[in-house]
Amino acid sequence: MSSDLKVVASASGVSRIFRGGASEVRALDDVSFFLHEGKTLALVGESGSGKTTAARILLGLDTPSAGSVEILGQTLGTLKHEQMRLLRRQIQVVQQDPFSQLNRRHSVQRIIQGPLLAFNVGDKESRKKKVIELLEAVGLEKEHLRRRPHELSGGQCQRVAIARALALDPKIVVLDEAVSALDVSVRAQVLNLLRKLQQERGLTYLFITHDLGVAHYVADEIAVMFRGRIVERGTREDVFKNSQHHYTIGLLASVPLANPQAVKSNKEQVQSLPSPADGDACLYRTRCAVGLNRPDCKSTALTLTKGTSTHSWLCHSPQGS
Ligand SMILES: Nc1ncnc2c1ncn2[C@@H]1O[C@H](COP(=O)(O)OP(=O)(O)OP(=O)(O)O)[C@@H](O)[C@H]1O
Ligand SMILES: [Mg+2]
Repeated sequence: MSSDLKVVASASGVSRIFRGGASEVRALDDVSFFLHEGKTLALVGESGSGKTTAARILLGLDTPSAGSVEILGQTLGTLKHEQMRLLRRQIQVVQQDPFSQLNRRHSVQRIIQGPLLAFNVGDKESRKKKVIELLEAVGLEKEHLRRRPHELSGGQCQRVAIARALALDPKIVVLDEAVSALDVSVRAQVLNLLRKLQQERGLTYLFITHDLGVAHYVADEIAVMFRGRIVERGTREDVFKNSQHHYTIGLLASVPLANPQAVKSNKEQVQSLPSPADGDACLYRTRCAVGLNRPDCKSTALTLTKGTSTHSWLCHSPQGS
């Protein structure tokens, strides 16, 4: 991605270790990425690769064990309570489950105006106007205002969650598997809605998905995660047309591209592969036809290779070598 685009958020060398008794999980290991204004970075990878942990840290809901995060020029962890509260307005989240992320006892109107009330924005009348404007922006109608989540479809619930996320006019929206629970045709509609909203409002998305087909449809840039590391990062073209990491290549081999109607989950397939061995320099080694027989993949620490200004990877024997 062109370096003249403004960076609105960045993670630099972020690690997160969860400790419980004698065991520890390295959920993130030296993760760095940028979000460029008005663009979409897709964070892709199988279950447990650290995607949600990265999102939670960006949202200020969790603290890194090492490294730093900047949002709109401000470094998380150094801010006073009120500064952090104001920054929170600028970065909102939509999660996977259409129903559980909405309070089932509240009406659509109350759900969407929740952030406006929390931040004391406007008066009763202007809030109602804003709610109706948001409702229309996400393709719902006035008649939905009084309904409760159980009276809506999954797709409609997700539209309500998107409207709520936009209530405070944020700059950045984190979409954590936001379309994964939806039927294929509804998924395509919501993806198109997200794209339209991005264009109209200049939104920046961190779009988390285990599904490379969806990433291909929405992303300007892609970061591929495996066991807490970003193993390949680049523009959509870099990652799809010139993949270097064997994990990326393996994921791509199973995905129909470009048409979200045709996108199917590849989650089951990647989960059935053997576990990587701890202690190997490359955690993908035991799954990798190339790395399995290379001593350096077992013992030589990996450093990021920068192929171009936009494309980098973490592999001793990339595809193009
Ligand atoms: N609070 C926690 N305590 C202990 N371990 C955790 C915690 N949160 C996450 N982990 C572990 O960190 C790793 C990364 O989890 P994370 O939820 O970030 O993965 P993910 O890529 O979002 O997976 P999924 O696609 O299933 O949502 C996993 O091994 C998970 O079990
Ligand atoms: Mg997750």
